[in-house]
Amino acid sequence: MSFQAAVPLDELPEVGAVRADVDGHPVAVVRAEDGSLHAVDDICSHAEVSLSEGDVEDCTIECWLHGSRFDLRTGAPIGLPATVPIAVYDVKVEDDMVLVDVTAPRSATTPLTAANKEH
Ligand code: FES
Repeated sequence: MSFQAAVPLDELPEVGAVRADVDGHPVAVVRAEDGSLHAVDDICSHAEVSLSEGDVEDCTIECWLHGSRFDLRTGAPIGLPATVPIAVYDVKVEDDMVLVDVTAPRSATTPLTAANKEH
């Protein structure tokens, strides 16, 4: 575990994402509607697009280019065209700073299939 400062808590929107550079990794630091904080790869698994520029809804973040959404808890894509999960990182808050550990990425192991695709 190696948490590093990503973004001050008061720079996060009430619901939405901010891009942060954490130890050379582009990370989207996200606050969901329920107030939970998440950190995921900022780059979409479908193409080189910054996910932090997308909308946050129902604990997912939407890629603005083609509309795939990713579950913020697992990194799993829940809509095409993206089929590959993005990494999810542990996050915590200390002294009003959001800290992210990019040394131990997690992601869903199940690629998007017709069975788990959202319709
Ligand atoms: S670039 Fe993100 S879904 Fe295509």
